[in-house]
Amino acid sequence: MSLLSVEAATKRFGGLTALDAVSLEVAPGSITGVMGANGAGKTTLFSLIAGTDRPSGGRITFDGRRVDGLPADRVCRLGIARTFQIVRPFAGMTVLDNVAVAAMYGRRRIRARGPAEVIAWEVLEATGLADRAHQAAGSLTLAGRKRLEVARALATGPRLLLLDEVMAGLTATEVAEALAMIEDLRRRYDLTILVIEHVMRALMRLCDRIVVLHHGRLIAIGTPAEIATHPEVVDAYLGGGS
Ligand SMILES: Nc1ncnc2c1ncn2[C@@H]1O[C@H](COP(=O)(O)OP(=O)(O)O)[C@@H](O)[C@H]1O
Ligand SMILES: [Mg+2]
Repeated sequence: MSLLSVEAATKRFGGLTALDAVSLEVAPGSITGVMGANGAGKTTLFSLIAGTDRPSGGRITFDGRRVDGLPADRVCRLGIARTFQIVRPFAGMTVLDNVAVAAMYGRRRIRARGPAEVIAWEVLEATGLADRAHQAAGSLTLAGRKRLEVARALATGPRLLLLDEVMAGLTATEVAEALAMIEDLRRRYDLTILVIEHVMRALMRLCDRIVVLHHGRLIAIGTPAEIATHPEVVDAYLGGGS
């Protein structure tokens, strides 16, 4: 049974169809990569799933429950958390406080500071940020800020985690560390993960399945090996086209 089911999800911005009848099924415990050139509709897909934006058409079901069109905070409390491509922590707040606030927003319905901090410390440890807990979020390196995005999403207690380019701009070593972290997080928290990434080799190693978007349409879905040799993907994406 699928944990997430996306059926003909469509998003129009004025005359532009950013996402065009995209359908996909996500099995519990899986890691699915989402690939595609800039403007392909990857972030839009995440926004529709997470309730950050409403679809123009189609249906999204999470754990048997229809979620498209619900506000983002409701979707988050049902167990879907996303990171943002443009990292946006509260820069003046400490790393710990950023994560504690997220814990109070999420699925666990925590309303008090103490329990929120307990969760925040655990999540900071899991994301390798515990030693930077008392730093201002704005003073973190890019790799640190990307980890903080993941930590804030995790603190909401998700079952489905959507990672939007959390490895973009990182060095090869930092990418390798991020991959190890994502694999560890899946096991530790029993997560199902969707991951948008441009680093093709990273997706190949990490994912059970890969989805390829091109101009808003899903043009391929399969195992990493299938995707690497898929003619339309090689033409549209790996061939260096738009
Ligand atoms: N809020 C918006 N208003 C208008 N156009 C948008 C908006 N968000 C995204 N788009 C457009 O939709 C298309 C898909 O964008 P996006 O999903 O961000 O692509 P990707 O994440 O694959 O780079 C792009 O052409 C982008 O300019
Ligand atoms: Mg994007």
